[in-house]
Amino acid sequence: MSEKRIEELRRQIQYYRDAYYQENQSLISDYDYDLLERELKSLELAHGVAEGSPTVLVGGKASEVFAPVKHLTPMMSLDNAFSEEEFLAWSQRAGGGPFLCEPKIDGLALSITYENGVLVKAATRGDGETGEDVTQNVLTIQGVPHRLSGSNHPAVIEIRGEVYFPLKAFEKLNADLVAAGKPPFANPRNSASGSLRQKDPAVTASRPLRMLVHGFGSFEGLNTQSEVYQLLESWGLPTTKQFAVAQDATSAYKFITQLSQKRHDLEHEIDGVVVKVDELSRQRELGATSRAPRWAIAYKYPPEQVNTKLLDIKVSIGRTGRATPFAVLAPVKVAGSEVEFATLHNQDQVRAKGILIGDTVVLRKAGDVIPEILGPVVALRNGSEREFVMPTHCPECSFELAPAQEGDVDLRCPNAESCPAQLRERIAYIGSRAALDIEALGYVSATALTQPLEPSQPPVQSEADLFDLTLEKLLPIRAYVLDPDTGLPKHDADGNPKIVDFFRKKDGSPAEVALKLLANLEEAKTRELWKILTSLSIRHVGPVAARALCNEFGSIEKILQASEDELSQVDGVGPTLASSIKDWYQESWHQRIIERWKASGVQLEIPDFAGPVLTDGIFSGMTIVVTGSMQSMTREDAEAKIIAQGGKASSSVSKKTSFVVAGPGAGSKLAKAEELGIEVIDEATFIARLAS
Ligand code: IVH
Repeated sequence: MSEKRIEELRRQIQYYRDAYYQENQSLISDYDYDLLERELKSLELAHGVAEGSPTVLVGGKASEVFAPVKHLTPMMSLDNAFSEEEFLAWSQRAGGGPFLCEPKIDGLALSITYENGVLVKAATRGDGETGEDVTQNVLTIQGVPHRLSGSNHPAVIEIRGEVYFPLKAFEKLNADLVAAGKPPFANPRNSASGSLRQKDPAVTASRPLRMLVHGFGSFEGLNTQSEVYQLLESWGLPTTKQFAVAQDATSAYKFITQLSQKRHDLEHEIDGVVVKVDELSRQRELGATSRAPRWAIAYKYPPEQVNTKLLDIKVSIGRTGRATPFAVLAPVKVAGSEVEFATLHNQDQVRAKGILIGDTVVLRKAGDVIPEILGPVVALRNGSEREFVMPTHCPECSFELAPAQEGDVDLRCPNAESCPAQLRERIAYIGSRAALDIEALGYVSATALTQPLEPSQPPVQSEADLFDLTLEKLLPIRAYVLDPDTGLPKHDADGNPKIVDFFRKKDGSPAEVALKLLANLEEAKTRELWKILTSLSIRHVGPVAARALCNEFGSIEKILQASEDELSQVDGVGPTLASSIKDWYQESWHQRIIERWKASGVQLEIPDFAGPVLTDGIFSGMTIVVTGSMQSMTREDAEAKIIAQGGKASSSVSKKTSFVVAGPGAGSKLAKAEELGIEVIDEATFIARLAS
């Protein structure tokens, strides 16, 4: 059994290596590849290693396009650690610190030979013994010195380092490719490798490749790895600024976790940290296996780029009716979390990415950024893949999809009033932080409130119904149990969707969520006006425009009744937005929302609205404190004038206070202002400033 598995693993590993080193193709994610190697190694531990097994060989083999170069010192690989435990175990084996820690650059390995300080040869790693001659190409890489600076150059030295494609340049390259309707590169490393291994060095020269060096073949007279870097730098070679010497394994591990936070701020992609025993004499003592040194380890971060199957492309309908294709993926772990869906934005993006349903695709999730499909692994197609066809009708209400305006890429479901998807999304949006921030009204509650499920009819058939909810209306609601991650119904063992009483406990009494929802809704009725306006899901009216409009008009009814001209005069409100508001209010069911909300006690105006606050008033952006008594006005009058001029009237002095207006009788606030060195003016000066 294990014999067979060993054979299979060896074959697979060799196949993936050939594709990777010869064709610049990642047919499998790095992470899954590492796991294969690891499985093979542990099996070989029990059953013995055969000569020629990929576990004793390094990398690929040189392609025929370039002349072979025999390395003076072999180019080795690194062993991996995937957890703190594995890392600490290695540190023990290596005899502890001090360690030199540095980023593991996700690029391609290069060896450069300098003779008496002059660059004479540059080669890829190849199989570790023999690489490819890429000298002419490397001469075009910015930052790689053709002649070393400084002095004391050895007669012959092989410098080792990593060539990479800077991230910003890579993103631009991919954006340009997508814009031109071409498939993007799978990752920066593939494009670095592809750019370097060009028959015509002029092509390499046109790509913004960079290099960082991290060691050399052999050199006498130095004591530590950190000294090696100083020397390399003094010769004008590019070394990383991100390295540190850690005294022990604990602080080395700290470096590993800290760098993972900064992972995306570096100029190049990294896939982990390389930790090296710093003392060169100890490095020599520890030596190497046939493939990797014992004095160094690569700590690998969770992968941010994986391959997975694209099972299907479906279409979701958003709160403004936009139809968005999204990928349904074979669930896969990426950047530490499981991903099953990825947005594809619109049908043009699907085409531009060149993906077919059934493809193996490259999925990337960088930190907290939403997961993105980069493209297909074309080499793995078997002919059963099929093209995605954008549906012509809404998947939830069957209305015909259409662009809102001629020439729009996005298709929309025009059935705004009763498309169940649009209603559900709008209700969930009302509960979201951007709008009314109603804790008990998340996506799951919004679905329960709106989905038509026998025997009960949904009590929310329009947002008009939302603030009229009562316990009597909530208690009968039954709902599908939704998976919180996917938003899709869960099923029981027989494959039927699970249905439960959503707002009622087993004994018939109200569930906590019911009471909470009603209490939350009551509070939400008096939210700031701009939040209430935002919650109406009027196209183009987001929080920023809503603030500007509310500040100007002070009431939602006034906004809705204003002319397009009046609306577009507000700062930050253009004609598109103005006409969108007018269109919205023309619908009678929208007018009904306003009426019903008003009748339920939703506050549709700013209390005591005293006219617009100037955003370009003489005090805008300032915080001003009035203290003591005034002669020609009350303190409240003074504060009203400050607010009318765009300032903020505060009652306490702090470092943030712009200035203090002090009249007779001012006490502790005046003292505080003086202590903090904040400007203090009297009433006459204040009046003069108002008039200026
Ligand atoms: S030191 C004997 N330092 O990762 C090999 N390697 O997976 C000592 N790599 O072959 C290598 N960043 O091409 C070292 N800071 C770094 C590195 C680094 C990337 C590459 C190198 C190595 C491969 C092993």
